[in-house]
Amino acid sequence: ATPKAHQQAGNLWSSRMAFILAAVGSAVGLGNIWKFPYITGENGGGAFVLVYLACIAIVGIPVLIAEVMIGRRGGQSPVASMRELTTSEGTSKGWRLIGWNGIIASFLVLSFYSVIGGWSLSYVGKAASGMFTGADADTIGGAFGGMLASPGDLLLWHSVFMAIVVLIVGRGIRSGMEKAINTLMPLLFLLLFIMVGYATTTGKFGEAVSFMFSPDFSKLTTEGVLTALGHAAFTLSIGIGVMMAYGSYLPQKVNVARTAMTIAFMDTGVALLAGLAIFPLVFANGLEPGAGPGLIFVTLPLAFGQMGGGVVFGTLFFALLLVAALTSAISMLEPVVEWLEEHKGVSRAKSAFFGGLAIWLVGIGTVLSFNDWAEFHPLAFIPFFEGKTVFDLLDFLVSNLMMPLGGLAIALFAGWAMKREGLDQEIGLQGAVYRAFMFVLRFLTPAGIAVVFLYNLL
Ligand code: PFF
Ligand code: NA
Repeated sequence: ATPKAHQQAGNLWSSRMAFILAAVGSAVGLGNIWKFPYITGENGGGAFVLVYLACIAIVGIPVLIAEVMIGRRGGQSPVASMRELTTSEGTSKGWRLIGWNGIIASFLVLSFYSVIGGWSLSYVGKAASGMFTGADADTIGGAFGGMLASPGDLLLWHSVFMAIVVLIVGRGIRSGMEKAINTLMPLLFLLLFIMVGYATTTGKFGEAVSFMFSPDFSKLTTEGVLTALGHAAFTLSIGIGVMMAYGSYLPQKVNVARTAMTIAFMDTGVALLAGLAIFPLVFANGLEPGAGPGLIFVTLPLAFGQMGGGVVFGTLFFALLLVAALTSAISMLEPVVEWLEEHKGVSRAKSAFFGGLAIWLVGIGTVLSFNDWAEFHPLAFIPFFEGKTVFDLLDFLVSNLMMPLGGLAIALFAGWAMKREGLDQEIGLQGAVYRAFMFVLRFLTPAGIAVVFLYNLL
């Protein structure tokens, strides 16, 4: 393939808006609504949120800009783009690891993301059945616990979720997806606002705001800081080539920097709204903020069960969460499929099927982590990994290691290895703003990531 192959083939997003929608579709997902609240709860609140926001600003946004920029300049799949750019920019072949890291990480991340996506799927039906109406915390917690305890149930939902993803990706990603995101994303925002509105009536809104925004650094561990950094990468879908793949379809006239900022603001907005919707419910119902991955599946149904129109709102909410999860999952399967197509010469439909099948198989490890393998801690002999299940390990490996380290490599490649000419043509910033951005990308972003890693190693 040639540089900018996607551009030359005229195979591009229909507009800046179309790209933003797809990229926001990738970014906004379970990370914002499921993961952000529960890891904020586990890590003590305010100080964690502050570090997370700092990581978005210092690492997330610069790497997102760099990654989309590299994608557009390379104009092909991540592996091919990195091969192309290391040649045309005359740099070391070692940078190609960025592409490989991306393929492996997006494979692994989808294996567990799909299991949680399955939970959302199952909750659409639970909400619609009216089983939450008037139910108390014990009943609702029991229903969630019952689902987790059943490998068969989890496997079923994981399978259905993966099947949907494979079908969509197998048919080519852009047909229909733009339209779906275009209408459903505003609806998701609206519903989150309604939930935040409801949360203000619980009498615990103030307590939740101070939990989320008044930092108490004694509650934050060094591993918590690594989790915040990893989450900044996870939530923006950066560091593993997904945004690079999407950027390769971006028309030349679109301003990369401004577009990336829009994506980051929307993503951060959704996460903070989710927190503001959930923590008041946690406190009002005497629940534990650090309860773990079940947090939203226990708190939100309680609210839906108490509020007027709760069946409709609840069903709609989990349906939208499912759509948000699907548009993210699609973006994870895309690099794997592109790689199989380009390097193995397999058709798109077959690539999606076999790629999806392999990911589904690995996902069974995560399914079992919540029941039969709940006490199975494969790397317990390494002090840092004591008590981590297969799911915990996969999440840690991808979110806290592969994504931030991929981000580091992307920042270093864009900041230090690429020629000035390429950056000028792609980034879309001028004068002092450009120089400020380059300073952040070359020094602050790598230093930020390095410091977090060094602290955790020592
Ligand atoms: N950003 C997605 C979320 O917040 O749910 C998760 C994600 C998507 C991670 C795509 C990685 C990825 F490649
Ligand atoms: Na996100």
